[in-house]
Amino acid sequence: MAKATGKKAAAKAAPKKAAAKKAAAPNVKKAAAASPKKAAAPQPKKAAAPQPKKVAAPQPKKAAATKVAAKKVAPKKAAPKKAAAKKVAASSPADQKSLLQKLFIDGLKDIYWAEKQLTKSLPKLMRAATSDQLKQAFEEHRVVTEQQVGRVEQVFQLIGVKAIAKKCEAMDGLTREADNIVAETQKGTMSRDAGLILAAQKVEHYEIASYGGLAQLAETLGLQEAKDLLGQTLQEEKDTDERLTQIAISSINLEAEKEEGPVPVQEEERNEENQDNQENQQNQENQDSQESRENQEGNTI
Ligand SMILES: [Fe+2]
Ligand SMILES: [Fe+2]
Repeated sequence: MAKATGKKAAAKAAPKKAAAKKAAAPNVKKAAAASPKKAAAPQPKKAAAPQPKKVAAPQPKKAAATKVAAKKVAPKKAAPKKAAAKKVAASSPADQKSLLQKLFIDGLKDIYWAEKQLTKSLPKLMRAATSDQLKQAFEEHRVVTEQQVGRVEQVFQLIGVKAIAKKCEAMDGLTREADNIVAETQKGTMSRDAGLILAAQKVEHYEIASYGGLAQLAETLGLQEAKDLLGQTLQEEKDTDERLTQIAISSINLEAEKEEGPVPVQEEERNEENQDNQENQQNQENQDSQESRENQEGNTI
């Protein structure tokens, strides 16, 4: 009892000195001895934070000694502090970077699906095209597209992620639009070729936007090799877009302008639309006259 009292007094009298650090340990032991069941859980948590801080604040010069004391008093209490530090780090810049990586991976999955879809769609466009020049352009771009699929797989490999395709709704819509142009234009016409070029250029522009954005993300994430691969594909898409423009303006659009033929499907649809409008107008007139009659009847009553 006398020893314990002496240590308590020492701790109160000189909290700034080493005695305080020694007192910290007996305090824990003493509490544990007095009520082992109750003190066991709460004591270490309470002692962990305040003890070193109290000593460290008034005596910055003796900080080294304080750190040693803190380790001696509660070596297990350092763990929760480290865990807390990790949580903070996870919700700061490091976490934002991982979100950007997720965005990058999602974008890769999207364009991976798109490219694979185009390897199936381009042969259809090639068969539907009229001019040899356009057929050749589609066939050459199909070969390039096969290489681009492999390049996207390389990027997946570089970042250690399994190559998985995720359906790209935009590319799905664009390839359907190309199918519609084939369905709505006459075989063997330059008008069809002009329509195919229009559809294909929409595809190229989607790819240009996708690869441009992904290359930029790769650079931000410090993935230089991935950025170079994506940049290579980006340039190919730009070249294809330019090539299609040249094919269109060199002959196809001019020849298509001279073409005449049966009423295209689109015009038939327009006629149906006009018929619907006439019916709607007739219905509206009938409704108006009905309301007018009712109003007159109301006035009479
Ligand atoms: Fe492509
Ligand atoms: Fe392309």
